[in-house]
Amino acid sequence: MYNTIINGETIHEMQQLPDKSIDLIFADPPYFMQTNGILNRPEGTEFHGCNDDWDKFTSLSDYALFSCKWLAECRRLLKPSGSVWVIGSMQCIYTLGNVMQGLGFWFINDIIWQKSNPTPNFTGSRLNNSHETLLWAVKYKHAKFTFHYKTAKHLNGGRQLGSVWTFPVCSGNERLRDSEGRKLHNTQKPLALLERIIAISSNLGDVVLDPFGGTMTTAAAAKKLGRKFIMIEREKTYCEYGQRRLEEVSFEDSDIARAVFDRKPLRVTMQEMIREGAFTAGEWFTLKDGKPRAQLQPDGKLLYDGEILDMHSCAAKARNVKAKRLNGFDVWHVIRQGKAVSISEVRENFRAGLAREN
Ligand SMILES: C[S@@+](CC[C@H](N)C(=O)[O-])C[C@H]1O[C@@H](n2cnc3c(N)ncnc32)[C@H](O)[C@@H]1O
Repeated sequence: MYNTIINGETIHEMQQLPDKSIDLIFADPPYFMQTNGILNRPEGTEFHGCNDDWDKFTSLSDYALFSCKWLAECRRLLKPSGSVWVIGSMQCIYTLGNVMQGLGFWFINDIIWQKSNPTPNFTGSRLNNSHETLLWAVKYKHAKFTFHYKTAKHLNGGRQLGSVWTFPVCSGNERLRDSEGRKLHNTQKPLALLERIIAISSNLGDVVLDPFGGTMTTAAAAKKLGRKFIMIEREKTYCEYGQRRLEEVSFEDSDIARAVFDRKPLRVTMQEMIREGAFTAGEWFTLKDGKPRAQLQPDGKLLYDGEILDMHSCAAKARNVKAKRLNGFDVWHVIRQGKAVSISEVRENFRAGLAREN
């Protein structure tokens, strides 16, 4: 079932898949562009935008009905912790968003993909369309979804990632060509865009579904990042070229693929650290100045001024602040080789030792 390209009609094929079996969906559906006639570049060559048969619908309500059917299937297939990304242009994104809200999806973000090399507006009759919109949603409000916040930040050079992303449109060697060297698909998406989406909103080994596979960009990114994929595409030719494309891709293990930046630190207790010798019952806890303030008890609590307290309440007392508790790991120190060392540092070393053992 996994790592397959299904050549078929998407609603029918999705109906064959079990409920709550998918972690992440990326959908790049028909746009319903409604373009007619031939568009020429200023120098006279023909521009091939998206006027394919797969993009034709009889009316806007026909398009909305189709959208409602496949999006309802997406919602059925998603695990409660899963999320869906839907990309579209101004011609379709409002319909898609409206349908999604009607089905109960809850938006997390809408993201502007700003094209750094957009197609010019050849006639100069309006603004050049230099972006597409991505809707990122969960099945219902308050759903707990996968989001690797720190991985996203890492991908953005250490700054919090915002909702305007700049990538070039797919071009050059990345663009798939047919046997005559013509571009195979009019709307092939950039691999970098899909890699970012998959890296920040799924885990290694997760299942990614794309109901409108095209050139299989989603599968290429999923495979590279160690996720499983299910791709659905109606046109046999795209499936065949896509299959060949995927044969050239392999898993590239990396901190981004594993989202190591977002790993939760190993939970360790004071008692465990005392048992393993990182701390000694009876030793003195100090502030930064190294002066003995509280004495560590075998159960991890502290003896302070004749009272037995947990280390967080004790930290507030020792610092003489109004708050009832302070994080003890930010406050307490112990003496190691004659110097006051933060107990947080001692805990980090302890964790590192455990990680090495495993
Ligand atoms: C916008 S393109 C997706 C492009 C893709 N993201 C890529 O990077 O190559 C939409 C694709 O959906 C396919 N498609 C349209 N309607 C479909 C349907 N009802 N069932 C299956 N595939 C369909 C089209 O053949 C087309 O390749």
